[in-house]
Amino acid sequence: MKKIPIIIDTDPGIDDFFCLALGLSYSDIFDLKAVTTMGGNNYTEITTANAIDIVSLFKKEVPVAMGAKRYLREGFEEPVWQHHGHNGLADAEIPHCERSADPLPAWDKIAQVAKEYPGELVLVTVAPLTNIALAIEKHPELKQEIRKIVMMGGSTEEGNITPYAEANIGHDAWAADIVFRSGIPIDMVGLNVTLKCPLPREVFDPISKDLDPLIRQTMKTMIDFRKGEPMHDAVAIASLIDEDVLEFLPAEVTVETENEERRGQTIVKENSGANTRVAVKADLPRYYKVIEGMCH
Ligand code: RIB
Ligand code: CA
Repeated sequence: MKKIPIIIDTDPGIDDFFCLALGLSYSDIFDLKAVTTMGGNNYTEITTANAIDIVSLFKKEVPVAMGAKRYLREGFEEPVWQHHGHNGLADAEIPHCERSADPLPAWDKIAQVAKEYPGELVLVTVAPLTNIALAIEKHPELKQEIRKIVMMGGSTEEGNITPYAEANIGHDAWAADIVFRSGIPIDMVGLNVTLKCPLPREVFDPISKDLDPLIRQTMKTMIDFRKGEPMHDAVAIASLIDEDVLEFLPAEVTVETENEERRGQTIVKENSGANTRVAVKADLPRYYKVIEGMCH
């Protein structure tokens, strides 16, 4: 089966680590062309260093291109240390890799790869959408070149950074608005399904016995840090590995930007005028099978 060329746009980040682990491990399914980094869970310099260290931990040679150091209209707030630890990776120590980031910024790296794989490139976005919006604004031809975006973001129910906004949408609602208006097909994997996909140690330990010991220990540390809570970003990419992990419905999705209280809310209208497929149900055993498959 032909591999899917993908770019993962990420702010590692504990659950981003699990998403990258799947993207790096399923090399029979993915041709991971680049990792692009964004702030959110931590500052972009930190998430970029983390991404370089993670790629090296999995012994892969994948370019890491640094992204925006602020959102479209405002700077970063101080990261919420208790969610991802001070180093962004549950304060787990992984070997530091001296490799530098790619010479291209994230938005130009996305455009470069999209030109190599027109109509084939899939963007897996698991961070605020600033880089994607900047890429679309600077390279409008991307609207025709990108096959689809698989996004951890939004919700058909409540948010998590406010009652209305999920973090990847709410941190840069204006960027999200540009992306949802772009016409690029989107698979939206929101909190309404990811919150139903916990990853506790009692599931992880028995299925990860064959995993590289350092990777396994790092993942155990992260799972403990998050007390078995969902690894949201891993659920999104899992749907590319096994399409039956998630059930999607077509919908029109818009992003609230003007109303300050509701800013970042994803307004989902199930209809034929759909710009998005919205995940509405998860098959937990199939998701766990995808996690298990990473370990062999
Ligand atoms: O709301 C969850 C999302 O925000 C995940 O991508 C997590 O890594 C954080 O960035
Ligand atoms: Ca993330």
